[in-house]
Amino acid sequence: MENIKKVLTKNPKVKPDQKHLGFGDYFTDHMFIMDYTEGKGWHDPRIVPYAPLSIDPAAMVLHYGQAIFEGMKAYHTEDGRVLLFRPRKNMERVNISNDRLCIPQIDVDYCVECIKELIKVEKDWIPTEPGTSLYIRPFIIATDPHLGVRPANTYQFIVILSPVGAYYKEGINPVKIYVEPFYVRAVKGGIGFAKTPGNYAASLKAQVEAKEKGYTQVLWLDGVEKKYIEEVGTMNVFFVIGDEVLTPSLEGSILAGITRMSTIELLKSLGLKVTERRITIQEIIDANKNGTLKEAFGTGTAAVISPIGELYMDGTVIPINEGKIGPLSKKIYDTITGIQSGKIEDTFHWTTLVE
Ligand SMILES: Cc1ncc(COP(=O)(O)O)c(C=O)c1O
Repeated sequence: MENIKKVLTKNPKVKPDQKHLGFGDYFTDHMFIMDYTEGKGWHDPRIVPYAPLSIDPAAMVLHYGQAIFEGMKAYHTEDGRVLLFRPRKNMERVNISNDRLCIPQIDVDYCVECIKELIKVEKDWIPTEPGTSLYIRPFIIATDPHLGVRPANTYQFIVILSPVGAYYKEGINPVKIYVEPFYVRAVKGGIGFAKTPGNYAASLKAQVEAKEKGYTQVLWLDGVEKKYIEEVGTMNVFFVIGDEVLTPSLEGSILAGITRMSTIELLKSLGLKVTERRITIQEIIDANKNGTLKEAFGTGTAAVISPIGELYMDGTVIPINEGKIGPLSKKIYDTITGIQSGKIEDTFHWTTLVE
């Protein structure tokens, strides 16, 4: 594969205060770009100063939404190493999304190497405060200047980096979730399993309305019968009922989360029964009534584990585990974050060393 060309900035930015990073507000000094041209493949990989993109107003991504993205993190360990968490899985998911969006495939291992190179250039940007990390946002956009619906012939693969603060500053806080009765996010056969901007655009209205009612996120139900549980905002969802852990099976309308996959592997390694299947919202209501619903939590790169303290559906409030974090949620959170930050031995071989 081609060597990455590097052009370094002459005007490095002043780095933000690590105690007030928030999420997605600051961007590092450089970005990675690679072009695709039909007949030539991916070419001209380069690390260049972070700057606005110059694209044609007719670029197809702006009109027809042909784009995909990813989200992952790099972590600084206490002993000065930099670790990535299962980066190949993110790049494999790029290709799953690409396939659905008619975007050409990428070389998984090469793209992981490109991301590592960019992180090495930006290593001084990786925050070191507990819980902080460097968020990595790879994305691909269709760049042909053309009006008319068809797959593009030219694309850009771009990676930007953003130092982000600890998700939980004052301990893990269970969230209140609104079970969405009207809007739907995706249907089987659609693009729900792909990480593509359209899915997020489709979710905004429900999210705004849930927030107005005092809820953090919505729990999506299936788009046909509004009966089966799908996922929560930007997280997959798990329920602990009796001695079994349940999560919706991947049927084409939800994202196959990497935290979801890791949670399942971890729970199984602990000898717990994990079942992936279609789950109705009624089952959860019934389990809550008969006292067998012990815990509910979301999984995703941003929070890792987000305990659900309350569900709201059709005028009924369903409190879960008295609004407190449950022991299993805490165990998964501590183990995954411990492995990510290098504090716990990575017996699963999930982490990759950047340097
Ligand atoms: C819609 C959706 N579901 C689930 C997830 C969780 O996926 P992951 O664990 O790979 O971050 C995300 C976040 O990427 C998401 O956007």
